[in-house]
Amino acid sequence: MDSQNIDSRKVHNAEDVVYPQSNNESDQERLHLQHFLVKSIWQNNFSAPINHILTRHRVMPNKKRLLVGMLRVWCGSGSWSFDIATIYPTINVIGLDISQQLTQTMPKNFTFVQANVLKGIPFENNTFDFVFQRFMAGGYTKDNWPYVMNEIVRVLKPGGFLEMMEASQNYDVGPATRRFWNAQSTFVKQQGIDLNVYQTLEIYPQNQGQLENIKKEVKQIRQGVNSNDIQLNEMAINNLILLIARMKPFAFMSD
Ligand SMILES: C[S@@+](CC[C@H](N)C(=O)[O-])C[C@H]1O[C@@H](n2cnc3c(N)ncnc32)[C@H](O)[C@@H]1O
Repeated sequence: MDSQNIDSRKVHNAEDVVYPQSNNESDQERLHLQHFLVKSIWQNNFSAPINHILTRHRVMPNKKRLLVGMLRVWCGSGSWSFDIATIYPTINVIGLDISQQLTQTMPKNFTFVQANVLKGIPFENNTFDFVFQRFMAGGYTKDNWPYVMNEIVRVLKPGGFLEMMEASQNYDVGPATRRFWNAQSTFVKQQGIDLNVYQTLEIYPQNQGQLENIKKEVKQIRQGVNSNDIQLNEMAINNLILLIARMKPFAFMSD
């Protein structure tokens, strides 16, 4: 997928794509750091009860078949996909993203697919046991959500699981950061994007109508002076600094 430069940074250049992040090297670094931050907060790569699916075929070491399909929507730098593909070598992990940003060596059971989700997920009905989507708040307008939910449910097998994760924008920050944060939210809101979608995230699967047992889990972390976990705090602060640096030009666009 092509990119265009805004304020000397590359951003996605596909019709309909609202995602304002760049796709350059430092972004990959940030996504990689963010992956390990989120993993250490949740102590795992996923929360859905899918262990039975992931380990189903381990009992047949001589017949290593790639039977379990896992779709990672918006795979970004591939950190989550590579991590999970390495831990579970008998599952088939597909990473989907509008742009190819993978810099690490790919595990053999991982396949990258380049596609714009807003034009449809390029797989047949009932293909995947698990679909995982994370940090896409900035990429879908409120109108895009129902379409994406329908697409995900279409490619999920009956009995399959969908997991989505979003971050809150409710940081307890100082006035300067708050001003920046508000400017950014105002800018994206004009495009129909809700950066605080985590607050109402369950509404989209509920409204889709075909998903059952919808559960929501929330974890709070403290960063900065209130943190009592030095390592986690350092990761969280570094991630925030890189994120704010990436979003800076877009905040100015709202002035
Ligand atoms: C904030 S990153 C999240 C990456 C990944 N989910 C993670 O947790 O590390 C958003 C990613 O979504 C991709 N993206 C944005 N709009 C998209 C679209 N319409 N279809 C597919 N991918 C898209 C971007 O290329 C970027 O890699």
